[in-house]
Order: sequence, then structure tokens, then C-alpha cells
Amino acid sequence: MKLAVIGADGQLGTDLMKLAPQAVGLTVADLDITDEAKSRVVLGQIKPAVVINTAAYNRVDDCEEKKELAYAVNAAGAGNIARICKELNAALVHLSTDYVFAGTKKTPYKETDNPDPTTVYGASKLAGEKEVSSTLSQHYIIRTSALFGTAGCLGKGGTNFVDVMVKKAQEGKLIKVVADEIVGPTYARDLAAKILQLIEQPEYGLYHVTNAGQCSWYEFAREILRLISSKTPLEPVSGTEFQAKAKRPAYSVLAHDHLKQLGLDDLRSWQDALKAYLQEKACLK
Ligand SMILES: NC(=O)c1ccc[n+]([C@@H]2O[C@H](COP(=O)([O-])OP(=O)(O)OC[C@H]3O[C@@H](n4cnc5c(N)ncnc54)[C@H](OP(=O)(O)O)[C@@H]3O)[C@@H](O)[C@H]2O)c1
Repeated sequence: MKLAVIGADGQLGTDLMKLAPQAVGLTVADLDITDEAKSRVVLGQIKPAVVINTAAYNRVDDCEEKKELAYAVNAAGAGNIARICKELNAALVHLSTDYVFAGTKKTPYKETDNPDPTTVYGASKLAGEKEVSSTLSQHYIIRTSALFGTAGCLGKGGTNFVDVMVKKAQEGKLIKVVADEIVGPTYARDLAAKILQLIEQPEYGLYHVTNAGQCSWYEFAREILRLISSKTPLEPVSGTEFQAKAKRPAYSVLAHDHLKQLGLDDLRSWQDALKAYLQEKACLK
């Protein structure tokens, strides 16, 4: 099966390319999803059976002020790729986010729950989902959350929460971390493996894919520090203390009902995944 990965040098894209080295990897220099005409030429030459679109404008706070850019990449860009896939009779894997939910629930969000984003980022990603699902039936829309992978999130300066905590732990100064936002951390490598497994079957639709379990950012940080045996002090704080421009969901854990229905809900716990990640990064002795 010929595979094309858009955003191949990003956090998820890098792990996809590691696990599927035969795929054609495309960086933004090769293919900019906001340029439909050029994207058509590039993908037309490759003739992929499946395209995985990891590209996004994902600076959550900046999206609040750069609404046009957020929609151009996350919504219109997604629509461009969906139209091209339809012309090429290719399937499309499109990545989305837990931030399509407001976070008012207290139990994991199911694929059947109505999205109600509170941020421009979440709204633009939801618009992208709609572009894809209304254009192309052969789609897998995959919502994930709190990604950590060895390449780091390119859109966020090539880093991720785990890397930031490890760096701060090494500096040894008090670390303040939000304790009232609950997420489902996800190892990019595990997500990449699940995507590659999913595309083996034509079971199209919407999927929630994260590692198993949930935690606050504070609990996530505490586990990171425990695993690297750091004694750096850690203090739980409220999200309001950071006065971020975008109001994050208080609870955005994703339930995996659709993976379950396929017998594919076997992702390991976020704690086991975190340990594997720190080993991969050589942070564990
Ligand atoms: N990171 C998270 O915690 C998280 C959580 C939930 C969902 N997601 C979703 O998961 C997906 C992957 O995230 P990630 O962490 O791997 O992000 P990432 O590291 O920022 O990777 C995104 C990739 O897309 C490229 N890109 C950006 N704009 C593009 C454009 N117009 N055309 C083509 N390529 C473009 C980026 O290249 P340049 O940087 O060189 O422009 C980068 O290679 C995204 O769809 C994101 O919304 C991420």
C-alpha cells in the first residue's frame, strides 16, 4: 500500500516515518496544504493509496489572534487534501484534537459526544474534521491529545510537555504545573503504530486514540520527575494562574469506543508509554 505522510518532520510524522520507512514523507517545503494546486501536483505524482495528514497550525494561544491562519491550515487545508484524495481515490487519515470539546464532562468523551470547542484552535480543527467528512467517505479522522514524541512538536518549537519538564527538573528550580486540567497523554510512537494498524482495514470514520488512563498536567509532571529520580520541587496550581489567551478544557479525556468495536483498543497506559519514551530519549539510567 503506497503511503504519503504530510508533516513528515513533525512530532507524529517523524514516528510514522520511523515505523513506515517505505512511506513518502512530505515536509511543508514539499507540500503546503494551504496551496491546493501544488498539493494536487505533488500527490498526483506520488499516487498514494493512503495519505496521512498530520499538518496543523497548533500554537493554541497564538490561534486566538491568528484566526485566519488557523482556519487556513486546520480547516481549508484539510479540505484541500480531502478533495485531492477523492480525485485520486485515496483514503485520508486526518489528525484532530481533544480540544474540539469544551471539557465540561467528568467522564471520557465518546466519539458520539457533540463537540463544543472553546478555543479558535479547537474550532478550526473541528471545521477541518467537517471538511474531511463531508468531502470524502474514505476517511479516518483521529482525535488525539497531549502528544509526546522524540521529534517534539515542531509547531511548538520542537518540544513537548515531557521534554520541558525534564529540562526544568535539571535546572532544579520550583516547577508550577496546572492541576485542574485533566488529559490523556499520548506517546506519538504508540499513536503512529495504531494509525498504521487501522489503515489495514477499510473501517472508515471517527476514532479517539490516546494511551490508556488520564491525569492532570501536575500528575503527569509528578510521574516524569519520579521516573527520572528528580528531587526538584513541584507545585500544583490552577490554570487561571497562567492567564493563557486560550481557555483550555478542564477535562478532555477521550474514550476509545470505536477502537473497542474493532478489537483494537489495546494501547498501553500513559505511565508505561512515558517510561518507554524516557528510555527512548535516554533520560532513564
Ligand atoms: N501536539 C499535541 O499535543 C497534539 C494534541 C492533539 C492533537 N494534535 C494533532 O496531531 C497532529 C500532529 O501534531 P504534532 O505534534 O506532530 O505537530 P507538529 O510537530 O507541529 O507537526 C506538524 C507538521 O505539519 C507541518 N505543517 C505545518 N503547516 C503546514 C502546512 N501548511 N502544510 C504542510 N505541512 C505543514 C509542520 O511543519 P513546519 O513546522 O515546518 O511548518 C510539521 O512538520 C496535528 O494535526 C495536531 O493538531 C496534536
